[in-house]
Amino acid sequence: MNQKLTSLFVMGAFMALGSQVAFANPDWSKVPKKDIHVIHPGVAPVEWVKSGDHSGASGLKKGETCAGCHITDGNKLDIDLKRLASKEMEPKGAPKTMTYPVSVQAAYDATNLYVRLTFKAPAGGADHSDKDNEVKATVMFPNDKVPLGDQAGCWAACHKDARTMPGADDKKTKYATPGAMDLMQWKSGGGGKAVDGTVTDKRNMEGGKAGVTAEGSKSGDTYTVTFTRKLAGGVNLAPGKAVPFGVAIHADNAGGRFHHVSFGHTIGLGADGDVKATKQ
Ligand code: HEC
Repeated sequence: MNQKLTSLFVMGAFMALGSQVAFANPDWSKVPKKDIHVIHPGVAPVEWVKSGDHSGASGLKKGETCAGCHITDGNKLDIDLKRLASKEMEPKGAPKTMTYPVSVQAAYDATNLYVRLTFKAPAGGADHSDKDNEVKATVMFPNDKVPLGDQAGCWAACHKDARTMPGADDKKTKYATPGAMDLMQWKSGGGGKAVDGTVTDKRNMEGGKAGVTAEGSKSGDTYTVTFTRKLAGGVNLAPGKAVPFGVAIHADNAGGRFHHVSFGHTIGLGADGDVKATKQ
């Protein structure tokens, strides 16, 4: 290649990169961050949360949200972590770090929703059954047919008979019948991988319709994971409303239920929300 052609070629590559950046990558420095607490949930599935063992059960029945009771004073976590770490609620052993913040940012344009998570994944977990992935970051969006979907976030799909719960069948995964959830996940193993999945009558780690892509990186002890998904396709995220979502992080090679999970929160798309999405 002669000199001129080479520079043309380089310029072309730059232009392609430039346009990709313009459309696919929000300027995250201009997008506000919201810290969302994630907690190790122990064996407190949705059945427990609805039961007489939980004093929030009647409030839940009246339509209150988990976050409405357990996040107070602006953004303080109010839950008994000692109880959650006890043998009664975590028979296998609790992680050293029961809770940590995940910083969530969101942006959208005419086609896509972009979600960026920044967090320090703690060591000291009790379960290391996912040998392939040190970290997995998951975001789920329930549709309006998931029982408690908008109140409980991921909890709505967490049942007592799901795998890794005490005495449960190892083949049975989480489910959201009669509704459905979109599940997008980034796995750190093998250089990073995106999952475009759903939760219906079972968890499907492929076949989602949201066109999910994900990128993740680690800098020092901080992970940054950026998801892109379509607004339409899968659970419809039309702008003008607050969309319920939940976050879960598997740290320290954890598998199954040994993740840290948020309560249900909302992303406001052209509307108010716990996380306000910035319009591009
Ligand atoms: C109306 C308020 C209210 C709502 C709504 C509520 N909770 Fe609670 N929750 C409580 C209170 C009060 C306790 C403390 C003690 C108890 O259960 O006896 C509690 C306890 C817990 C505990 C055990 C740890 C502890 O602090 O004792 C977990 C886990 C929990 N809640 C999860 C949830 C989840 C998940 C949701 C939503 C699906 C939820 N809660 C909704 C009020 C609420």
